[in-house]
Amino acid sequence: MEEKRQSVHGQWSSRTAFVLAATGSAVGLGNIWKFPYITGQNGGGAFVLVYLICILIIGIPVMMGEILIGRRGRQSPSHSIAYLAKEAGAPRIWTLMGIMGISASFLILTFYVVIAGWAVAYIIVTASGTFTGASAEAVGAYFDDFLADSSGLIFWSTLVTLGTLVTVAGGVRKGLERAVTWLMPGMLVILLILVGYALSTGSFIEGFSFLFKPDFTKLSADGVLVALGHAFFTLSLASGVMIAYGAYLPEDTSIFQTSVIVCAADTAVALIAGLAIFPIVFAYGLDVSEGPGLIFATLPIAFGQMPFGTFFGTLFFIMLSFAAFTSAISLLEPTVAWIVERFSVTRLRAVVISGTVLWVLSLGTVFSFSKWAEIKLFGRTFFANLDYLTANIMLPLGGLLVAGFTAWAMKESATRDELGLGDSPVYSTWRFVMRYIAPVAIVIVFLAKLGAFKHFGIDLS
Ligand code: PFF
Repeated sequence: MEEKRQSVHGQWSSRTAFVLAATGSAVGLGNIWKFPYITGQNGGGAFVLVYLICILIIGIPVMMGEILIGRRGRQSPSHSIAYLAKEAGAPRIWTLMGIMGISASFLILTFYVVIAGWAVAYIIVTASGTFTGASAEAVGAYFDDFLADSSGLIFWSTLVTLGTLVTVAGGVRKGLERAVTWLMPGMLVILLILVGYALSTGSFIEGFSFLFKPDFTKLSADGVLVALGHAFFTLSLASGVMIAYGAYLPEDTSIFQTSVIVCAADTAVALIAGLAIFPIVFAYGLDVSEGPGLIFATLPIAFGQMPFGTFFGTLFFIMLSFAAFTSAISLLEPTVAWIVERFSVTRLRAVVISGTVLWVLSLGTVFSFSKWAEIKLFGRTFFANLDYLTANIMLPLGGLLVAGFTAWAMKESATRDELGLGDSPVYSTWRFVMRYIAPVAIVIVFLAKLGAFKHFGIDLS
């Protein structure tokens, strides 16, 4: 029998460790901060429906494809792809797809540490009773002042950055795995407490129908692209992360089952967060299309009014920080693994190099909310451009390439062997979706966004 390869970076100690780490990566700011605000900006129900369809027909198969690449390649994303391209006799140019993924995760991380810093800061701010009895204006003004104070933001994002670096420097088992083993159960317990609390108060009806009652007149082509991009973002796809984590996956673990578990857990957390947040937004007459400030400028109003609000508010921001942290470490791993392999340096050195670049780039996002707020390219700030470029362009494109690579470039025997599903309908469905459905869907969304259908009298934008 062929000797199975091992990653030089180590291996998860069990299937559970992988599921915790992959779910930890998937569940993050994307679920609790971004999903609610983009749903608010894109009109609610119809957007959510498109997002759910994207998760189901594109997210799950692409996640399987990425874990498969990682486990078979057993290296950082670009080196795994190079190895598999060779195995398949496919052109080496495919390696660029790995480089693009690593770049995407690194760019995302530069703004991720900043927003995660807001979450950590808000633990202290909420715990100290700042919002008790505060009016909507006062809470909003507090957030504006908070964003304007760039040295404060630098302090908080530096703290998150250092925590991320120290954890990743610890390696797969002593760093990544140890962190997720504590933080993920902690996050889950807090989420359940908050949901229990939310269920026992207020009315859900308005928030519920905003999330689940589709009104297609409110959905634009841009909204569909945002939903697709977010499906990739929230599942940590097309950014090399699932390839990197897959490289540490034990041989006997089912890639299909673990992918379904991770996708289901991620979706559940996003919907629960929406159900907790929107009723509050409506109850206080706040603006659903507020944007990135939604949970920071609105939720504290409710925490300031409700019984035990300081306690629950503090718990909320602890949960958000935990969720963000387990994603931040995953966002650094592809870059660090790649540097270690490419330049034959120690993990520590790779962490120091990437950490320095990360810190400098993160300042761009910090200043996007103060000094540089008026400096715009394509009508967007530095932060908004990074977000747009990664989520709406690099990730969907990366997803298209993952589908192309696993279903067209790789040999069928290789993918079948690695997924271990034999000739089952699950395998043939996966392959069919990756060969035709996912690529066609992604291309259509891109073309619609570019207005390509206007020539046929169809205006989707
Ligand atoms: N999935 C994370 C979230 O929803 O917050 C963000 C993320 C992590 C995106 C890792 C991409 C990635 F590779």
